[in-house]
Amino acid sequence: MTNPQEKDTHNTIEFKDGVPVSVLFDDVYFSKQGGWEESQFVFVSGNEIQSKLEGNDKPTFRIGELGFGSGLNVFVTLDVWKLSKNPPPVTFISLEGYPLTANILLTLNASYPDKDLWFEELICSYESATQTWEKDPSKNLWTYHWKHTYNQNSFTLQVYFGDIKDCLPNFPEIHSWYLDGFSPGKNPDMWSSEVLKQLREKSIVGTSFATFSSAGFLRRNLAELGFVVEKKKGFGRKREMISGFLK
Ligand SMILES: C[S@@+](CC[C@H](N)C(=O)[O-])C[C@H]1O[C@@H](n2cnc3c(N)ncnc32)[C@H](O)[C@@H]1O
Repeated sequence: MTNPQEKDTHNTIEFKDGVPVSVLFDDVYFSKQGGWEESQFVFVSGNEIQSKLEGNDKPTFRIGELGFGSGLNVFVTLDVWKLSKNPPPVTFISLEGYPLTANILLTLNASYPDKDLWFEELICSYESATQTWEKDPSKNLWTYHWKHTYNQNSFTLQVYFGDIKDCLPNFPEIHSWYLDGFSPGKNPDMWSSEVLKQLREKSIVGTSFATFSSAGFLRRNLAELGFVVEKKKGFGRKREMISGFLK
């Protein structure tokens, strides 16, 4: 995999209705019908994150995301965690092969002026991580911590920069998955049977998943790996999405 600066020229970003679109993958980073609400609906509610945080019995609750993109899913999850009265420590682990530039990330702030999104220290920390691109993906790790106002627990964000095949093996045991790697038809690498097998290996009984896609091959492969797969009404104009958990 080449370094991020080189990749940026390939993964050109265009804006349609204020939403970043990858020219390389010919797909949107989040819904034109409301990215914040989509993330809440598909990933946060799809994984029942709020009740998992409230009923948590693990020392650290770990969320794994395939495709960091603009960071929107992190901010939506962080918002739920911040508004919880006594949430557990959370680690949100993501991966990204084509990091967006700071300028593009900052357009997210303009789309959601009333939300806490990218702030100066966070964006500087992200930029310096994407500029030190090592060959060994286990070293391309960006980490940032937030402290909870009431109980002082931490929300830790970790992003591995590199291709999914190099990054995913570094993930620890995960309790909820956000599968957000562009649509499977446009980006099969993020949904390969190898990826799904690793996802299974890093899950425990009860680990949940949610995704906007309801592709038949995905439902079948997840079911074969031992996940209970449920079809639901999708966000906005999308007919279906899926979520479930490991039996
Ligand atoms: C739909 S976007 C993710 C949106 C994101 N979760 C958000 O909140 O903005 C999918 C992401 O997967 C990344 N991606 C696509 N193929 C990849 C690969 N083979 N390895 C690593 N990342 C990849 C893309 O660069 C993109 O950022």
